[in-house]
Amino acid sequence: MVLLKGYDENGFVWYTNYESRKAHELSENPHASLLFYWDGLNRQVRVEGSVEKVSDEESEQYFHSRPRGSQLGAIVSKQSTVVSGRNVLHDLYKELEGKYSDGSLIPKPNYWGGYRLKPELFEFWQGQKSRLHDRLQYSPEESNGQRVWRIERLAP
Ligand SMILES: Cc1cc2nc3c(=O)[nH]c(=O)nc-3n(C[C@H](O)[C@H](O)[C@H](O)COP(=O)(O)O)c2cc1C
Repeated sequence: MVLLKGYDENGFVWYTNYESRKAHELSENPHASLLFYWDGLNRQVRVEGSVEKVSDEESEQYFHSRPRGSQLGAIVSKQSTVVSGRNVLHDLYKELEGKYSDGSLIPKPNYWGGYRLKPELFEFWQGQKSRLHDRLQYSPEESNGQRVWRIERLAP
């Protein structure tokens, strides 16, 4: 689970550690699915597409918009690696907190940044009491030189 930080016509953006397990997996296979699920609405949306890193400027800008504690956390955490104890993280955090207590700029680590998934397929799923659930798939196609979405109903 990651926090969706933004979306627009270029895709869906989230931020993470570029040396994490998921980042290694994405460098091997830069394709992913996003799943949004609303239990109360009996609804899900699936988005599939290719993934690329966001520009360094974009990551930099977002990094510095975060609370300083979150910025320090990103430096402290070598995400997905084994840690011998909580105290290791805590001690490093405290050390950095002291170092930057004067309010100076906390540099974004190179291994932290965003990914953008460029959507190539959407599926809107709506549960129905009858169990004959709705599944509407949107896939891109060319029509009269324009990129449009082909909409097809899939069997549930
Ligand atoms: C509500 C919630 C939001 C999260 N948001 C993020 C996020 O935005 N970025 C991130 O790297 N991890 C986030 N995590 C932690 C990830 O789920 C995951 O544990 C972490 O990224 C390491 O994954 P990996 O070892 O597979 O790379 C979140 C977890 C939860 C429960």
